[in-house]
Amino acid sequence: MRLTRCQAALAAAITVNLLVLFYVSWLQQQPRNARTRGPRRGTAAAGPHVTVLVREFEAFDNAVPELVDSFLQQDPAQPVVVAADVLPYPPLALPRIPNVHLALLQPALDQPAAASRPETYVATEFVALVPDGARAETPGRLERMAEVLRAGGARLVAARVASANPARCLALNVSQREWSARYGPAPSAPRCDALEGTPWCSLRARDLFNFSAPLARPLATASSLQTALRGWAVQLLDVTFPAARQPPLTTAHARWKAEREGRARRAALLRALGIRLVSWDGGRLEWFGCSKETPRCFGTVVGDTPSYLYEGRWTPPCCLRALRETARYVVGVLEAAGVRYWLEGGSLLGAARHGDIIPWDYDVDLGIYLEDVGNCEQLRGAEAGSVVDERGFVWEKAIEGDFFRVQYSESNHLHVDLWPFYPRNGVMTKDTWLDHRQDVEFPEHFLQPLVPLPFAGFMAQAPNNYRRFLELKFGPGVIESPEYPNPALLSLAGSS
Ligand SMILES: *[C@@H]1O[C@H](CO)[C@@H](O)[C@H](O)[C@H]1NC(C)=O
Ligand SMILES: *[C@@H]1O[C@H](CO)[C@@H](O)[C@H](O)[C@H]1NC(C)=O
Repeated sequence: MRLTRCQAALAAAITVNLLVLFYVSWLQQQPRNARTRGPRRGTAAAGPHVTVLVREFEAFDNAVPELVDSFLQQDPAQPVVVAADVLPYPPLALPRIPNVHLALLQPALDQPAAASRPETYVATEFVALVPDGARAETPGRLERMAEVLRAGGARLVAARVASANPARCLALNVSQREWSARYGPAPSAPRCDALEGTPWCSLRARDLFNFSAPLARPLATASSLQTALRGWAVQLLDVTFPAARQPPLTTAHARWKAEREGRARRAALLRALGIRLVSWDGGRLEWFGCSKETPRCFGTVVGDTPSYLYEGRWTPPCCLRALRETARYVVGVLEAAGVRYWLEGGSLLGAARHGDIIPWDYDVDLGIYLEDVGNCEQLRGAEAGSVVDERGFVWEKAIEGDFFRVQYSESNHLHVDLWPFYPRNGVMTKDTWLDHRQDVEFPEHFLQPLVPLPFAGFMAQAPNNYRRFLELKFGPGVIESPEYPNPALLSLAGSS
């Protein structure tokens, strides 16, 4: 039998149509989550690739059961982990099925350590961190967020949640050395370093559990600090998840309580992760460090090398701020009383280098003329015992020798030391010497005249020809070659 060309074309078209039909019906019979490409993990290969992790909720008022149900309606086998520090009270009404777990993150006496680690409950390649107040609606959203991660580039992808504090994508620089986090606008949004607000986030389980603090709250703050520090790109998708039908925290009292607890959690998190200063786009600063009412945030300095240097950190920003404030105040008092003073030691070195306290220094040193001590009421008082002045600064004679010390407050012992010198045959000398290279006599002509030098935000008096003065005390090239105070114990080059 011979086919005409027309019959042949018709037969071909029918065949192609049938093939397409079979393929589509085959696709529809496949379990939804097995359809996606990409690497699969062991036994979970055929099941879902994403575990839903619910961590951001308040025990006293939440819509977590609704959230969990919304996922189970889409896929009854969806793995869900609700993580809380302690057993939520009032109890959460969670379905008692094998793929829904309540993970309690605080160790319990009768449980093995693994029971308090969320990774124990996660067997999938990806994790979605879903905030309370959201609801799953469109099937396949979890998988699509995982696809963005598979495509590479972003290590964390996020979406907004309708009801919640809208998620924002920001630039963030974290400096552990300077105890600080600096937020700014993201130049290449929707790619950024950090998220603020209450986002819905997806990332690889491997990446989440490689964080130092995977489920620390608030999740957005904790994960942002960690992605930014690791240089992982974050992407905020143009997707908004619907709000819960019965959203949590609808009363003013519940919102007030949640906000209060959120603030406390955030402050505790930043302190725990060693962030003492957060600066926001627009210049607003948030401090989480020491103040006049707290102790100094490092202990007694041994061998001239404060503890934070061994941790690879410099002086906490709150301490630098308190030292600047104390220095400015003390200089004001000395000037008003007619006490001749000059920047000494490391403080002069910092002023010569960059007009400020050396970023790893822990005190401020000033030289004064011994014969001027009597001009200053606070110093006269300090001769007799310790004096707390009207601004809360403490003036006292140091126990270590014949010099004065002005402390930031009675609790916080950050201080400015005042070293009294007197001239003898044109040489400035004193009676107490510390075992420091820079603690040496020097010709009085360096003080005749004193010269103004910017320091710590104000103009201070300094020896004239301070470069020669510094090189006499510390050795040649000291301004250009920064070094830690006691390189025999810890050197700048050796610690970085
Ligand atoms: C982060 O640091 C880089 C490099 O120093 C700088 O260009 C950028 O402006 C900083 N971003 C923020 C938000 O401070
Ligand atoms: C976990 O992080 C460390 C460094 O932070 C890295 O060396 C290691 O490869 C990471 N492990 C995984 C499984 O990603």
